[in-house]
Amino acid sequence: MKVLLAGATGTLGVPLVRRLTAAGHEVTGIARTEAGASMLWDLGASSVIADALDREGLLRALDGKQADAVMHQLTALKKPPMRHKDLATTNRLRVQGSTNLLAAADLVGARRFVTQSFFGGYGFNDGSRLLTEQDRFAPAGGGKFDAVWQAVRSAEQQVLDAPGIEGVALRYGGFYGPISVAPLLDALRKHQLPVPPGGGAYASFIYIDDAAAATVAALERSGPDQVYNIVDDEPVRWGDMVGALAAAFGLPKPVRLPGALIRLMAPVVGAMMTRQSLRLSNAKAKAELGWRPMMPSYREGIAAIAAALARPQDVEDETHDGAVSGGRAGDKSGK
Ligand SMILES: NC(=O)c1ccc[n+]([C@@H]2O[C@H](COP(=O)([O-])OP(=O)(O)OC[C@H]3O[C@@H](n4cnc5c(N)ncnc54)[C@H](OP(=O)(O)O)[C@@H]3O)[C@@H](O)[C@H]2O)c1
Repeated sequence: MKVLLAGATGTLGVPLVRRLTAAGHEVTGIARTEAGASMLWDLGASSVIADALDREGLLRALDGKQADAVMHQLTALKKPPMRHKDLATTNRLRVQGSTNLLAAADLVGARRFVTQSFFGGYGFNDGSRLLTEQDRFAPAGGGKFDAVWQAVRSAEQQVLDAPGIEGVALRYGGFYGPISVAPLLDALRKHQLPVPPGGGAYASFIYIDDAAAATVAALERSGPDQVYNIVDDEPVRWGDMVGALAAAFGLPKPVRLPGALIRLMAPVVGAMMTRQSLRLSNAKAKAELGWRPMMPSYREGIAAIAAALARPQDVEDETHDGAVSGGRAGDKSGK
């Protein structure tokens, strides 16, 4: 397929370009800079330079291009969001960016649209059971989180409702991989990564290269207008995930602080660690996409990261075994 990929230079974008080209797809990435375009060229993709929030400029840049599918993998998060205002531009990319990319899909003749979504969109939960795609998503009443949940709902709904488009929305778990853990390891080293007593809320994670593999599977095999949870097999409490990272790298155990204090210091991440206890099922993705995570849990994933970081010369992007060749380094976890 000819694939137009927005976010091709990102954390997920880079391993996704690799997997798409390896599977025989022809990728045109949307880059914002010449450096990004040149990196995509090295990865075997062509590019257009455009800002996805500038509708006219985007459509101008795509004039005369053709594609079978469009993918939306945009965020404006260079680091994990601490405060609600850190999410404002990402919300715009989900709402306005989706509208603009659907216009782009129309222009290039694409009939398939794969978009990103986020496990946190399931809102405040108590973690007492596995959530499926049938469960309530992006509920009202989230206070300051409403803007985020409305944005992820909009990103999904626009694509699923678009006439003449086969829409697919992927509710990814939290990404992690050899590069994204670097700031976490640094914070652990400095005793600056607190976790709540008892480990706090559950979260569903996904190793970055498993997310890329699931995305290619969804492009190729999903039925029209489907939503999938893309998470590993074993949700984990934040405290256990961070504790396992510390243990694997011989770092100090994470500091324990009351949840209320963590929420005060970092309202977004703090609420995720204490109020959004989310355990997601990946059964639908497994059954319908023929996909399985290579890293079924954080244990295998962290072991792979430790192995990759023992060969630092190899760590330039995220692959399932951490071994790498060329390309941009750059995933950021917890977004
Ligand atoms: N990280 C997670 O844990 C997580 C969890 C669930 C879902 N997701 C979703 O998965 C998708 C991929 O995430 P990621 O972590 O790979 O994101 P990322 O590393 O932050 O990459 C973002 C990409 O978006 C591009 N971009 C940002 N603003 C743009 C604009 N105005 N016009 C054109 N391009 C723009 C960036 O280009 P530049 O290189 O020019 O900056 C980059 O290629 C996102 O949609 C995210 O919301 C992420």
